[in-house]
Amino acid sequence: KLPSEDVLLQYILKETACEKTMKGKRVLVTAGPTVEAIDPVRYISNRSSGKTGYAIARAARRRGADVTLITGPVSIPAPSDVHVVHVNTALEMLQACEEAFPSADIALFSAAVADMRPAHAADHKLKKGAADADLGTITLVENPDILATIGAKKGPHQVVVGFAAETDNVIANAQAKLVKKNADVIVANRVGEGLAFGTDDNAVCFVDADEIDETPSMPKDKLADVILDHALEYLR
Ligand code: PMT
Repeated sequence: KLPSEDVLLQYILKETACEKTMKGKRVLVTAGPTVEAIDPVRYISNRSSGKTGYAIARAARRRGADVTLITGPVSIPAPSDVHVVHVNTALEMLQACEEAFPSADIALFSAAVADMRPAHAADHKLKKGAADADLGTITLVENPDILATIGAKKGPHQVVVGFAAETDNVIANAQAKLVKKNADVIVANRVGEGLAFGTDDNAVCFVDADEIDETPSMPKDKLADVILDHALEYLR
């Protein structure tokens, strides 16, 4: 079914009315979860829907940026006119980020990367019970920290925006991540039942070396623009 004339007109107005504040800038965005296979039918992952990262990618494109979106598996449509790289695992996301980051002016790491992965993904479906104890004893190993790896390589003219998803001590944890991961700013959000993961609205706190700036809750599309406005402040 085609969209109505009204919907199309609204879309065109939104796309063209936007100030091209990011023209000529190359923007890298990570989005969605990573999935780490246990066996051919099971995996470890999280509840990220990709809505936040996709909204940032769309908003950056609308502002004239050249956008690369590196995304884990999600069920929302990819933004148009954006270079989309589909990955599954944290290791694949790291490799894609390492390839894309050297040419990026601004990189925003909104993906919810799985911290751990099974040490070995079984090539057959694991069985429960005594006959095959494998399912009860999955050995996990730590995934590399993509943001910290990329942050360590940040050039003087590059801006790195990290995220922090916290249930407790949101600000203190974000401040620690800012330093540990060499980000310019951390977009911190409180997570938990009905918060941030998968929602249409979110409230965040920008935490950098000098200040803490809190936003009210708003639609993720609008929040994406607020995040980009903040990111632009760090461009040197
Ligand atoms: O996708 P949505 O449903 O819209 O949800 C949005 C969101 C809640 C996923 C998003 O707002 C968010 O908070 N993203 C970061 C989630 C996260 O993994 O936070 P963290 O505190 O565990 O990690 C901190 C930062 O390190 C993040 O930028 C993360 O991308 C990065 N990281 C984490 C672990 C890892 N192994 N490598 C990483 O790069």
